[in-house]
Amino acid sequence: MMMSAWSLIFMLTSGRWLAGALACRSLNNDTYCMGRRDVLNHLLNGSNETDKYDPRVPPDYEEEHPTNVSIRIHLLSFDSVSETTMDYSVELYLSMTWMDVRLNYTLLHNSSWLEVDTKMMDLVWVPDVYFRNEKEASFHDVTVPNKYMHLYREGEVKYSMRLSLTLSCRMLLQKYPLDTQRCPMLIQSYTYTTENVMFYWKADEGTHPITHDAEIALNTELPQFSIVDNTTESCNGTMDVETPKFACIKAHFTLKRDIGFYIIQVYVPSILIVALSWVSFWLDLDAIPARVSLGVLTVLTLNTHGSNVQSQLPKVSYIKAIDVWVVNSLIFVFAALLEFAYVNVLARRGDKELVATQVFRIPMENKDSRFEVNGNPPRHLHIGRPAPSRMRARKIDKISRIVFPGCFVIFNMVYWPVYIYT
Ligand SMILES: *[C@@H]1O[C@H](CO)[C@@H](O)[C@H](O)[C@H]1NC(C)=O
Ligand SMILES: *[C@@H]1O[C@H](CO)[C@@H](O)[C@H](O)[C@H]1NC(C)=O
Ligand SMILES: *[C@@H]1O[C@H](CO)[C@@H](O)[C@H](O)[C@H]1NC(C)=O
Ligand SMILES: *[C@@H]1O[C@H](CO)[C@@H](O)[C@H](O)[C@H]1NC(C)=O
Ligand SMILES: *[C@@H]1O[C@H](CO)[C@@H](O)[C@H](O)[C@H]1NC(C)=O
Ligand SMILES: *[C@@H]1O[C@H](CO)[C@@H](O)[C@H](O)[C@H]1NC(C)=O
Ligand SMILES: *[C@@H]1O[C@H](CO)[C@@H](O)[C@H](O)[C@H]1NC(C)=O
Ligand SMILES: *[C@@H]1O[C@H](CO)[C@@H](O)[C@H](O)[C@H]1NC(C)=O
Repeated sequence: MMMSAWSLIFMLTSGRWLAGALACRSLNNDTYCMGRRDVLNHLLNGSNETDKYDPRVPPDYEEEHPTNVSIRIHLLSFDSVSETTMDYSVELYLSMTWMDVRLNYTLLHNSSWLEVDTKMMDLVWVPDVYFRNEKEASFHDVTVPNKYMHLYREGEVKYSMRLSLTLSCRMLLQKYPLDTQRCPMLIQSYTYTTENVMFYWKADEGTHPITHDAEIALNTELPQFSIVDNTTESCNGTMDVETPKFACIKAHFTLKRDIGFYIIQVYVPSILIVALSWVSFWLDLDAIPARVSLGVLTVLTLNTHGSNVQSQLPKVSYIKAIDVWVVNSLIFVFAALLEFAYVNVLARRGDKELVATQVFRIPMENKDSRFEVNGNPPRHLHIGRPAPSRMRARKIDKISRIVFPGCFVIFNMVYWPVYIYT
């Protein structure tokens, strides 16, 4: 009694399913009787072993033409660009679209698309994309793997995932910090040569293959850079001379460094230090402690300042724009110190001349001053004209007041245009 009831139910249900399936396949009518789940099961895990969908082979493996995979990228954030490690980090949606005619379900169901759950995605062939210049990458798995797959009626598959990537970018720092960097993103297939799979940037009318979230402002997202441009191109995906060409595309992001930080942290302080060293020219020739300490202090400060700047950079062997600036400032400050040394020598020579004339003249004019004359150089004696060397020292100081700032202005007039406009 029990058994017959169960067998009756079984017969009824299986029979109806079978009849429905047959009806669905035979009629190109609005009356589709397969559910979405049944369609997916039928497509991806069909019971017909000989005609079963095989996720291990690409869609057009048997054909003469390659499978076209169009790729687009949607930037979620552009996080950091590092000169020391020569890389940059991005977070993005990577979407791929391709045709897999084996998944054509026009006859089975009339919905525009079917969503495939992450647990079922392994049953569908997907391109073996990798980032050629990747250093570190991760999927996002909270709360489930962050990817989706949609199947469209005629067999189009849309597959998208969220990725965080650290990509290497070889930077040329000759113009640092007035530089513009061009950072690549190379997308390649590891297995499939261009015979079987081709990658394209998805070129819809009106939309660029590289888009970004409206919330991220490309010019303020990064503390130091603004993304001024991006280009997409195809590439020769060879790994070395021996290998054939693999499916490959690449993009470039042009990043312009914002000079603001460096103006405030590097240029203005060093300009002030250099200007401080000129104060020495207005001080008295005999203010030796003041002028020496001013000179030494500015040299040391600038030196420390320069090494602070260098500590954030890789130790490249070529000369950077910032090196030219720091070294030049150091030369200016050092020259001011040397100028004082020279002027001081002249002044002392002048004192000796003065002493000589005083010793010669004082006995005749003022005998009381003799003690002073014998003790210290008679600095405060202003009898007649100062010695010619002292005059020359003063003159050099006066000339320096104009020549040093003048040279510095000329240096600036050369430095900025050369690095900004070439
Ligand atoms: C749909 O199928 C029914 C029979 O199941 C048939 O009578 C009808 O003409 C078909 N309609 C179309 C638009 O093919
Ligand atoms: C696919 O179908 C077989 C039986 O035909 C079943 O054992 C297997 O669990 C199914 N796989 C999935 C992922 O549904
Ligand atoms: C499997 O599919 C092939 C081709 O569609 C067909 O010839 C074969 O009869 C099917 N086998 C079964 C057991 O349904
Ligand atoms: C793939 O793209 C190329 C170039 O756009 C085109 O010639 C070819 O027909 C496409 N192949 C398929 C299967 O769509
Ligand atoms: C699917 O069929 C229903 C009714 O049978 C119809 O209203 C709907 O527009 C169809 N959808 C598509 C994508 O053809
Ligand atoms: C999908 O299947 C339908 C019905 O067999 C056919 O008309 C259509 O051309 C197929 N689409 C593709 C892209 O092969
Ligand atoms: C890439 O460039 C295109 C046009 O040049 C622009 O529309 C798009 O927003 C840019 N995308 C990014 C992420 O900069
Ligand atoms: C790609 O390879 C072809 C020959 O295989 C060559 O003509 C072409 O210049 C190469 N393109 C690039 C960008 O290297």
